[in-house]
Amino acid sequence: MFAKETYIRRRQQLKDTLKSGLLLFLGNDECGMNYADNTYHFRQDSTFLYFFGSDYAGLAAVIDIDEDREIIFGNELTIDDIVWMGTQPTISEKSERVGIRETLPMGELKSYLERAAAKGQAIHYLPPYRGDHKLWLQDLLGLAPAEIAAKSSVPFIRAVVDQRNYKSVEEIAQIEEAVNISVEMHVTAMRMARPGIKESEIAAAVTEVAMRDGGNLSFPVIATINGQTLHNHCHSNVLQEGQLFLLDAGAENAMHYAGDLTSTMPVSGRFTEQQRMVFDINHRAYTAAVNALRPGVAFRDVHLTAMTEICRGMKELGLMKGDPAEAANIGAYALFMPCGLGHMMGLDVHDMENLGEVYVGYNGQPKSTQFGFKSLRLARPLEPGFVFTVEPGIYFIPELIDKWRAENMYTDFICYDKLDAWKGFGGIRNEEDYLITEDGARRLGNHKPSSADEIEAECNR
Ligand code: GLY
Ligand code: MN
Ligand code: MN
Repeated sequence: MFAKETYIRRRQQLKDTLKSGLLLFLGNDECGMNYADNTYHFRQDSTFLYFFGSDYAGLAAVIDIDEDREIIFGNELTIDDIVWMGTQPTISEKSERVGIRETLPMGELKSYLERAAAKGQAIHYLPPYRGDHKLWLQDLLGLAPAEIAAKSSVPFIRAVVDQRNYKSVEEIAQIEEAVNISVEMHVTAMRMARPGIKESEIAAAVTEVAMRDGGNLSFPVIATINGQTLHNHCHSNVLQEGQLFLLDAGAENAMHYAGDLTSTMPVSGRFTEQQRMVFDINHRAYTAAVNALRPGVAFRDVHLTAMTEICRGMKELGLMKGDPAEAANIGAYALFMPCGLGHMMGLDVHDMENLGEVYVGYNGQPKSTQFGFKSLRLARPLEPGFVFTVEPGIYFIPELIDKWRAENMYTDFICYDKLDAWKGFGGIRNEEDYLITEDGARRLGNHKPSSADEIEAECNR
């Protein structure tokens, strides 16, 4: 945990922004995987962690701005809890660590909220992403399931986003630690990838690296010879001579800050000529994007810079035609890169995605619904303190190629007659993590091999 002053300061800033009302925070609880006592790995809600630091299941909190009270709600452990799961600090001890003196049993939360509602206080809550929280809100606030999302508080969402989007020096140090562990995961994979090894063996080895210093994975490992499938969680293949292997994996450090990196490597230790051409185009797009990062530049424009580079490269390969910048602007790039260039990163790998990309990545401005652009999670002008990924890729997705061709999509820009030969190519992505500084940008963490030469050297070490 950070020092208690950090949490006191964060809550004070939130109160200063919202000025009135009651803020309700639901911590996460244990969740049964196949029966109640066989639980998924416990992960505290990130907003709860941010304001209350407490990494324990079964807590809630209220900041009652009108009454000037901050209360943590929770139940002390029973002897059965202690016998089976071990002991924990008391609720008071957990609260004092973050500068909160008032605690109440969980059973009093509902009556506290009922009294507040009766007094006419506005009760603000964030959009829930877990089924048990939806049921809890239904009970606590007497809401119908269908109205829960719609009645979540936009001012509360915006205030939380406006704090969590700007990473402090102590948060950046934590993120950098997570990125460094993530770099080690990737170097491990580069040294392991060879014909005959299973995707699952590499996934297991990188998971070990993530967990060994008390952290965990920041999202399920993508370790695949089918890099064209963006979030591919299947690990059942054996790597074969001549294939590409894509690892998208990151660590969450012990303080729950995330890293998120992707590498694409040649299973045989050397890229084929064709693989290297595509790899180099993607690397050019990555470099162009990184060179464009600085305060005031809209990430949508950085995305377009990278997409222009990809379209230029596809033209060099004879797969596209026309003006690359125009192809990028109108969205023709999305045949090869159907996702966005990056996303905010912090306590969540896609930071605060549960609060809404429109607030996190678009500052409340509308988001495109067009294929490709709709998956751009970050578009707003960049500001010092923003931490995000840069992750261009080039993907050959046979079903998408067939669909676009059948629909005559962007025929002024795409050379469909050449694409059949590329349907088995797979996919390439490079992903690294950046911080916007006062006058530019800084890559976070240790260097990860990212050019074709560097990756080949690491694979052959
Ligand atoms: N790891 C998922 C992503 O790169 O966004
Ligand atoms: Mn990412
Ligand atoms: Mn990733």
